[in-house]
Amino acid sequence: MSSNEVSQAAAKAAARAQDAVDSGRLNDAIADLAAFGGRSDGGVSRETLTPLDLQARRHLIERARALGCSVCVDTCGNLFFRRAGRQADLPPVLTGSHIDTQPVGGKLDGAYGVVAGLEVIQALNDAGVATRRPVEVVVWTNEEGSRFGPGAMGSSAFAQSGRLAGYRASRDASGILFGDALDAALADTPDVEHSALGHSVDSCVELHIEQGPVLEGANVPLGVVTGIQSVRWFNVTVSGAAAHAGTTPMEVRRDAMRAAVELAGHLYACGDAVRARGLRMTLGRWRVGPNSINTIPGEVEFTVDARCVDEDVLASFEAALRDAVAGLNAADGFAAQVQNLFARATTRFPADMTDLVERGCARAAANAGEGAPIRVTSGAFHDAMYVADLCPTAMIFVPSRSGISHNAAEYTEPHQLYLGAQALAYVVAELACR
Ligand code: GLV
Ligand code: MN
Ligand code: MN
Repeated sequence: MSSNEVSQAAAKAAARAQDAVDSGRLNDAIADLAAFGGRSDGGVSRETLTPLDLQARRHLIERARALGCSVCVDTCGNLFFRRAGRQADLPPVLTGSHIDTQPVGGKLDGAYGVVAGLEVIQALNDAGVATRRPVEVVVWTNEEGSRFGPGAMGSSAFAQSGRLAGYRASRDASGILFGDALDAALADTPDVEHSALGHSVDSCVELHIEQGPVLEGANVPLGVVTGIQSVRWFNVTVSGAAAHAGTTPMEVRRDAMRAAVELAGHLYACGDAVRARGLRMTLGRWRVGPNSINTIPGEVEFTVDARCVDEDVLASFEAALRDAVAGLNAADGFAAQVQNLFARATTRFPADMTDLVERGCARAAANAGEGAPIRVTSGAFHDAMYVADLCPTAMIFVPSRSGISHNAAEYTEPHQLYLGAQALAYVVAELACR
């Protein structure tokens, strides 16, 4: 076949796969997975590598096997469900996401991309499409980073296996090592083939809820994600001196909380000054020592999450943070330090991938009489950010009601979930038939 004929055949297979996606089946599968850790308020609590996460993984392994997939797990616990291609030795087209949640999350963050990946495999089966390349649905370990930091451990270790050794030393709030929790998870799958980290992949597309308000505001069901904004995380520690709250005169105190709050006020002002250039800044986690009502705080720690598409804005913000911390260090009786926890440059997905996503989304939307997809940048980071280091990668978004996520109230209309899975089927099938 000429390359033109291959492209035409791939587009035809993509359309057949898209048309075979089943909305009821997809929604049932989302509900089935949400039962693992499901809460009475509609949310899901299923942090990574907890017993509920392991049960959910088992549920998916069985579902994938029933669809005819082979299953393997790598040394970071990433699960891969593979539908064979006509040429078994070719690297697979990868899709999927994560199934771990925040302490309280919704049914869709991550889980939707995994369940939709399995729906694509079912659709390929039903439509009788034999792809040239294998198709793999991945369940990445610990995307959320809420139990063990940092987030996106599974995908980042897949992209660069040397990262795993450091991750194994990460501890949760009760002191459990990620490495121990991981070993227990691997021991829980004796019937699954174990593989090395980082096998080669042809291309990747991740379907996810937007977790922001842009698509809903534009009244469109599908977003073509052009990239992911850059992010830097810091930990700031301010030390003063703990002392008695009742007896210590105000003028002699070295109150670490007062200094930290003033520093925080300064950082908010720096952030507000570049808000129009897209900076988003969050001081999300605080630790106060000794955290007692009648002791002046001697040490305060807080985290800074700063994000922007424009790297220059982030760099200036970091410089302002470092200057302010240095100023505190020079101040009488205080010490302060800033530690880098995580940094990631802006991710830009390649044009041929975003164009393909646009075709898949446009076809699904047009057939449903819905508005054409729009192009968006992701405010949240995703596993696709790391896979983009390895192969051509893309993402598809569906709307989040009121932009809410990391919350039990997270919701997307079933019809929009269906269109997202249709778009995914198109893109995966076309890539796998090329
Ligand atoms: C991932 O959820 C993030 O913080 O963007
Ligand atoms: Mn997610
Ligand atoms: Mn999340």
